[in-house]
This record gives sequence, structure tokens and C-alpha cells, in this order.
Amino acid sequence: MITTVTMNTSLDKAYFIKSRIVNGTVMRLDSCRTSAGGKGVNVARAAALCGAKVQAAGLAGGFNGQQLEALLDKDGIAHQFVHIAGETRCCINILDQEYGSTEYLEPGCEVSADEEQQFMQRYPEIIRDSDVVTISGSLPRGMSKDIYGRMTAIAKDMGKAVILDTSGEPLKQGIKSHPTMVKPNQDEIEQFFGIKIHNMQEVIRYAGKLWDMGIPYVVISLGKDGALLVSGDGIFRGRPPEVEAVNTVGCGDSMVGAFAAALERRYEAKEALRYAVSVASANAMSPNTGDFDPKNIERLTAQATVEKL
Ligand SMILES: Nc1ncnc2c1ncn2[C@@H]1O[C@H](COP(=O)(O)OP(=O)(O)OP(=O)(O)O)[C@@H](O)[C@H]1O
Ligand SMILES: [Mg+2]
Repeated sequence: MITTVTMNTSLDKAYFIKSRIVNGTVMRLDSCRTSAGGKGVNVARAAALCGAKVQAAGLAGGFNGQQLEALLDKDGIAHQFVHIAGETRCCINILDQEYGSTEYLEPGCEVSADEEQQFMQRYPEIIRDSDVVTISGSLPRGMSKDIYGRMTAIAKDMGKAVILDTSGEPLKQGIKSHPTMVKPNQDEIEQFFGIKIHNMQEVIRYAGKLWDMGIPYVVISLGKDGALLVSGDGIFRGRPPEVEAVNTVGCGDSMVGAFAAALERRYEAKEALRYAVSVASANAMSPNTGDFDPKNIERLTAQATVEKL
């Protein structure tokens, strides 16, 4: 089983509007959709579509938290959230013809030291039956910046593979516990090393530096250009087939979900990369986040290419 952890969950609202947006006026929406959100929740949906047994975990609170759990129930995704006093935030995505997607993210509630401790107490029990644990996204205000590092260390001590997909200080702290895999995109690796990347040679160099820090699988995702994997079996470049991209939000999360499934199935590094770039490209073809037609996976996997460098 796979457990996906999301500390900063959200209730995602997509607002679709056909008319031109005129700021400062009343705008009527043509349709809207509410879904359970937060990066690890997207990972859970993607892993489930890959056919993996998965549960979503993390923090949820208030009526929004209850609705998030109800939406997961509807999607048939098991969950074990620790309930907090604050209200789970809403994130609004306005989709229109002129601007494409404009997101409004609520800051979210503060998490107390007591609530953090409650989560950490329950965490070993929550992940007990899982082979792979994924930890995704930002931390809510009030949480310790080293919590992902502590969660990684606990899971590894319990014999589990850990995928850490975050950025900034939580990534810097988390890497110290040597997760099995990290998946920064280009922005995130630039921020991590405080550099600018100009070419593939530099992607390889900095991915190698992360690998040298004791991370067995370093994946750098490069949007439509695919991804680079540095592993003990070598360095691989994976490219997805060309697809008609309608919404690339959550492509990274889908990649993490697919890689988690690949680790659980003990795919070889090269095949894990092929599978992950393909599943992620399936997400790009779908208007929903971390949600795609699983029927496309086999065809896309056959078309994706992986080259050993
Ligand atoms: N336009 C695209 N066409 C095909 N595949 C894509 C496209 N964009 C992304 N992908 C696939 O998704 C993978 C991850 O994408 P990306 O590098 O954008 O992740 P990310 O920035 O972490 O995304 P997010 O954090 O929004 O989930 C890529 O390696 C690729 O396989
Ligand atoms: Mg990402």
C-alpha cells in the first residue's frame, strides 16, 4: 500500500467562466467544481488510477475538512486525516478564455504545536501497512520546518520507501534524512542550490549533487521535456510522447503517484521513469488535477522513450 501525506490540504474550487472577466463588476460563473485538494491528495488520486492500493493522510479541519473527506469517499480513496481545530483552506482556480487559469490560494489556518505532536504520535500507526510513503507540498503556518525530515526518518526506520516532493526550507531539512526519492522541478532545484540552470549538463550536475547527498533516486522534472533520473543503475533521460496539453497543474503530483506505484512494484529504475513520465503526461491531457483516463497509460508508456546517458 501507499500512504500519501498532505499537511496543507485544501478544498479546491474550479470556477469556469465563458464571458470576458471585467474586474470590479459582478461575474457569473458558467459552472464550478469542488474537489479534494492539496498536493498529496492529487498524488493519491494518481496512484489509485495507476491501480495501486492507496490512502491519503495528513491534516484536515472544520467543515471544509469534512467535505474533503466526503469527496475522497466518493472517489473511493481511503483516508486517515488527523483533525485540527482550524478550517481546511479553499483554493480557487478561475478558468477563462483570456487568462487561462488564475489561482487564489487562501493562506490556511495555523497549526498548533499540540496538533503537530498529535499527528506525529499517530504517524507510525497511519503508515504501518504501507510500503511507500509520499510527502508532498508546503507546510501550514505554525509547523516545524524539520517535520518532513523527522517523518522521513521514522518511515525509513520502519523499512519504507519515502518520496519527498516539497521546496524551500522543508526540502533542505527533509533531505538530511535521505528520502528514497526527491522530485524537484527546475525552479525547485535552482532555488535549492541558489543557482540558474542553463542546459542539460547543468541539470545532470546538480541532480548528481543531490544523489551524492544520499538520495537513491533523484528525479528532476522538466515539464513537457520529460525528466532526468539519477540512480544507482545510471543516469536516464525520459521523454513523454507529444500530447495535447490542456492542464499541466498536478503533472508533478501524478509523476510522484506513478513513481510510488513503480517503487512498490519494484520496477527497474529505467522502467519506473518511463512509467512516471507517461502517467504524468496523461495528466496533462486531462482538465482535472491528478486525474486522468487510465486507459491512456498503456499507449503513452509504449510511446515514451528512455535513454541511458
Ligand atoms: N505539456 C506536457 N506534455 C506532456 N507531458 C508533460 C507536460 N507537462 C508536464 N508533463 C509531464 O509531467 C511531468 C512533471 O511535470 P512538471 O515538471 O511540470 O512537474 P511540476 O512542476 O512538479 O508540476 P506540479 O507541481 O504542478 O504538479 C514531466 O516530467 C512530464 O512527464
Ligand atoms: Mg511539483
